[in-house]
Amino acid sequence: YPVFAQQNYSNPRAANGKLACANCHLNQKAIEIEAPQAVLPNSIFEVEIKVPYDTTKQQLGANGKKADLNVGGILMLPEGFKLAPKNQIPAEVKEKNKGVFISPYSSEFDNILVVGPIAGKTHQELIFPVMAPDPEKNSDIKYLTYPFYAGGNRGRGQVYPTGEKSNVNVFGANQSGQITEITVTEKGESTILILNSNGKQTSQVLPAGLILSIKQGQVVKADQPLNIDPNVGGFGQEESEIVLQNPIRIYGYLAFCFSVLITQIMLVLKKKQFEKVQAAELNF
Ligand code: HEM
Repeated sequence: YPVFAQQNYSNPRAANGKLACANCHLNQKAIEIEAPQAVLPNSIFEVEIKVPYDTTKQQLGANGKKADLNVGGILMLPEGFKLAPKNQIPAEVKEKNKGVFISPYSSEFDNILVVGPIAGKTHQELIFPVMAPDPEKNSDIKYLTYPFYAGGNRGRGQVYPTGEKSNVNVFGANQSGQITEITVTEKGESTILILNSNGKQTSQVLPAGLILSIKQGQVVKADQPLNIDPNVGGFGQEESEIVLQNPIRIYGYLAFCFSVLITQIMLVLKKKQFEKVQAAELNF
């Protein structure tokens, strides 16, 4: 959950660019960013993180039963960019984001936004309404091209903040040897006994809901997977760029285009006038 990242990482992006979510959501699955290429100061715009997956798939829930996947995301905007104030969010975005709660990552980083978990079936796209900063009001902000980062996740993680593994994992044999017994409890947990060549027996319990990939009597190596990987989700991250555009530059560009247009029209008119004079002179 994003809150696990908020509680455990003051900065969710490591020096190598890896986002904190990837530490616990070990599968990789692609995401996509959709954002304007340039924005004006103080303007409201949307950044969309697309988190596609096959919604017919179900995953292993914390209780060992099948469950639908949820999605969540993180958006690391350039400094000064913020979540748009509620009263300035366009109505259509409000409608799409009904029941979706986007929050700043921390009081220190209000340019980082997190969302989720929310139902994946109805939210393959995470929409973040953002307000651009104004360099006229804050001298730390400059009209520049800035990089920004986004991460999106579907499905449950593999590690809890305590370091404990979740049930969405591949569990390895805790020693080499022969599997002497597999018992399944009423709750669905499997207890696997392994006897090694020195006569030492170990027992390990696998959470309910996993599909075992081994049989009684089979000889396994240490760390050999005992179950089929149940993970159908995954985390992905992307980066993109956004230009904080100075409106004066746009007015300047428009003025230049207009002056070129006027000059060309003037040249054509001059040519027409000259042609008239030429025609008139021919008559003498
Ligand atoms: C569950 C997103 C960071 C560990 C989830 C779920 C989402 C999510 C959407 C629900 C999945 C589902 O129910 O299908 C994120 C995002 C993160 C992040 C966007 C980064 C901003 C982390 C971190 C950890 C972690 C840092 C580990 C310290 C887990 C675990 C679950 C989970 C163990 C399953 C919880 C349970 O159902 O018992 N996460 N997560 N996540 N996340 Fe994360």
